[in-house]
Amino acid sequence: MKVLVTGAGGQLGRAVLATAPASVELTPQSRADLDVGDERAVESAIACSSPDVVINAAAYTAVDKAESEAEAAHRVNAVGPGLLAAACRRRGARLIHVSTDFVFDGRSTRPYRPEDPTGPLGVYGATKLEGERRVLRELPEVGTIIRTAWLYDAAGRNFVTTMLRLMSERQMVRVVSDQFGTPTSTDGLAEAIWRTVERGVTGVHHWTDAGSASWYDFAVAICRTGQSMGILRSEVRVEPILTEEYPTPAKRPAFSVLDKTATWTALGVAGVHWQDALDATIRSLAHEATAP
Ligand SMILES: NC(=O)c1ccc[n+]([C@@H]2O[C@H](COP(=O)([O-])OP(=O)(O)OC[C@H]3O[C@@H](n4cnc5c(N)ncnc54)[C@H](OP(=O)(O)O)[C@@H]3O)[C@@H](O)[C@H]2O)c1
Repeated sequence: MKVLVTGAGGQLGRAVLATAPASVELTPQSRADLDVGDERAVESAIACSSPDVVINAAAYTAVDKAESEAEAAHRVNAVGPGLLAAACRRRGARLIHVSTDFVFDGRSTRPYRPEDPTGPLGVYGATKLEGERRVLRELPEVGTIIRTAWLYDAAGRNFVTTMLRLMSERQMVRVVSDQFGTPTSTDGLAEAIWRTVERGVTGVHHWTDAGSASWYDFAVAICRTGQSMGILRSEVRVEPILTEEYPTPAKRPAFSVLDKTATWTALGVAGVHWQDALDATIRSLAHEATAP
């Protein structure tokens, strides 16, 4: 099976490449290889490699910056997926497109199901939602949308690596305690994507690790795990604050836990608890730090 991966240099793109089954013939396309907002480049990349499946891990992910760069975010998050989907339709390829919990408004009192009404609060979420719509318009039968949340790996610029850096520089960090979601490792998501490919799962799906947390809970877990694995000093403290004490250009959903029940059934696998996935990531960082 031939699989083209866009955004191959990003956090998720790297994990998708690293977890690919041996039988897959990969065409990794980083941003420098393929700009998903460029119609001719998309058409020619898909014509040249004639993939059976395209995995779109490319995105404009700077949530706050998107508020002042709406056009740039729209080009990558909405136009790009539409172009990829149209090219896939013409060539008979499947498309697996990755989206976000930020398509929801955060007012739900239970985890969001794939079919729940959307209502993005900011430009990033709105452009990602438009991307989903364009994919499903072009590929109503064979398009797959996987919404995920709070992604991190051991190397990218994300909450885990940022917290570990701040906690090694400061005595105390203050973190928002009234926004809830689910921390998600790129490794688990990448494996779920490969299962989606293997099983031919289509439609709108949700994938995160299991459980839920506030950003504050997540930071405390990073701190404790980092300390127990010897990569953080013992005197760092984490203090909870409210969203209103930490104003940002983009409004974020207060609650964006995703209901994965249908997806776990379709894929025949459930996500691990987020704390276990975090332990594995911090263990790999601790191992790197002590490697000769
Ligand atoms: N990160 C999260 O917390 C989170 C949460 C929910 C959903 N998601 C979704 O998960 C997916 C993967 O996110 P991620 O965390 O892996 O993001 P990431 O690390 O920012 O990776 C995105 C990649 O897309 C590339 N890119 C940007 N513009 C492009 C363009 N015009 N053409 C081709 N590639 C382009 C970026 O290149 P440059 O680095 O050179 O810009 C980067 O390599 C995205 O769909 C994102 O919306 C992420």
